[in-house]
Amino acid sequence: GRHCSHDVSRAAFTPVAPNRTDAVTNAPEFTHNVVIRWGDPVEAGARRFDVHAQTPEAQAKQFGYNNDYVGVLPLDGRRALLVTNHEYTDENLMFPAGEYDDATIKKIAMAAHGMSVVTIERGRAAGSWIRADHRRSRHNRRITVHTEFAFHGPAAGHELLRTEADPTGMRVNGTFGNCAGGTTPWGTVLSGEENFNGYFDASGPVDAANAASFKRYGLATTTTTNRGWSDVDERFDLARHPHEAYRFGWVVEVDPLEPTSTPVKQTMLGRFKHEGANVTISKSGHAVAYMGDDERGDYIYKFVSADRFRHGRSPAARRHNKTLLTKGTLYVAKFTGDGTDDGVFDGSGEWLPLTSHHRSHVPGMSVAEVLVNTRLAADTVGPTKMDRPEDIEPNPVNGKIYCALTNNSDRGVKYPTDETNPLASSMVRAELGAPLTSKSGNRNGYVLEVTERGNDHTATRFAWDLFLVCGDPTAPETYFAGFDKSKVSPISCPDNVAFDGAGNLWISTDGNVLGSNDGLFRVPVAGPRRGHVEQFLTVPFGAETCGPLVSRDQRSVFVAVQHPGETDGATFESPSSTWPHTDGFPRPSVVVSYRR
Ligand code: FEO
Ligand code: CA
Ligand code: CA
Ligand code: CA
Repeated sequence: GRHCSHDVSRAAFTPVAPNRTDAVTNAPEFTHNVVIRWGDPVEAGARRFDVHAQTPEAQAKQFGYNNDYVGVLPLDGRRALLVTNHEYTDENLMFPAGEYDDATIKKIAMAAHGMSVVTIERGRAAGSWIRADHRRSRHNRRITVHTEFAFHGPAAGHELLRTEADPTGMRVNGTFGNCAGGTTPWGTVLSGEENFNGYFDASGPVDAANAASFKRYGLATTTTTNRGWSDVDERFDLARHPHEAYRFGWVVEVDPLEPTSTPVKQTMLGRFKHEGANVTISKSGHAVAYMGDDERGDYIYKFVSADRFRHGRSPAARRHNKTLLTKGTLYVAKFTGDGTDDGVFDGSGEWLPLTSHHRSHVPGMSVAEVLVNTRLAADTVGPTKMDRPEDIEPNPVNGKIYCALTNNSDRGVKYPTDETNPLASSMVRAELGAPLTSKSGNRNGYVLEVTERGNDHTATRFAWDLFLVCGDPTAPETYFAGFDKSKVSPISCPDNVAFDGAGNLWISTDGNVLGSNDGLFRVPVAGPRRGHVEQFLTVPFGAETCGPLVSRDQRSVFVAVQHPGETDGATFESPSSTWPHTDGFPRPSVVVSYRR
């Protein structure tokens, strides 16, 4: 039943009302503390953060900008490793005007990208976590644009991955655009390289051999400004180094327990705008990864390993499990509706094989070519064009897979509607209190529920339904798994998903178009309250809610507050948010919520 509890999977709470507050607002039964902020020390020897005296070297040892994915790996009862992505930077909010030259800004920004591994320890209150002293935390680590990675899997060493700097095609420096991710059953962290295209430009004509691929991935083939990193590192100039672009857009695997290990880009999981990857172990013992390609009209993928997971924490078992993502089969999803006469958006589907590690299923493309140009390969087999597939995660309690389809302003315009992507228009509010008006496209997003045949994650057939059609519950098109719409919280633009120990789905949002701040929601997927969406917290003005993560003991909810104050025209001097209110300017931070 619902009662006062420290267990967030069971605790009743009073849903947070939509608001425009520059704060993290918890349900009144809960509170939170900041765990770590942009600029806080991570590696030993990190300099104290001074926004007026930053250097690339200082930033490379400090917590990066725009935390997105959150993983927590217990070390012992008292300490754990917090692993986060740093997706991108907002130079307008990071740098006081006129204090840094352009090249220094770019170099600091490069060091603020990537990932962090941070030792955390329990705070005084039950459920609270704080940053441990970085000087006594041997696992602490920053991964930046300069960190060396190894390519693993069938495309490693392929001609398309070779550059002047790396004629072997086996090593690459850095990761960026890291959005969501997943923690594997063997204790590594996966991170998706998402909008990697925006970091490249071209000072002149690009070798025409790359034209079809670059077009499909949105890579520049002419001089464009983009982020201008080519000004300080010529490998980002596609006219000079076209293959450098093929070295991004992968899922990376980091082993936080081995701080000196070389992180890996797993080519078997394909190359696209990877939102993230979440791995489960099938009944047969195979590792199965679910992945979204976050672009309007792009696809949902899954990978099934050839080898089986080995239980136990022995070094031999870990070594073996860290090879599971290098061999197997990569699939893309095709959804079929069964008609809307039954009153629900649902149907069946199949996983279409693209390639295994030894045999391509796409005529005219080799295994490595399918993995490097996965979008081009998938285009040939007729998968379903989706409304921006974001985070996809299997529910450990019921075995079903939940996918956030965040929105698609082109649905009904460029992409025809179908039963899986049914909304060509929806009602949105310009501001809180303003009237609802119609806008083209799916603006508020869906949460898709997939049931593999026989509840077997290796199956090639599945059933599906739209669990949520998000939006203002008073709008007629919204749907909350059949639950009473007068009792649910409004929700818009689902982005990340997570589960608690009872199997409840937690959804974080990015880009709420209902006129209020983004937030985090809990919703049961089974029982009489299936579909009862309740808002657990809201994030500050201009921020997106990332993570989220429910701790194994069910007492803590971690949330990454990404890009607070990122609004049109906002600058360091005139920010629209000053959260977390320690400095007079915004600092993206990870927070943890727990029972008051
Ligand atoms: Fe970086 Fe798809 O959100
Ligand atoms: Ca139907
Ligand atoms: Ca995301
Ligand atoms: Ca997003």
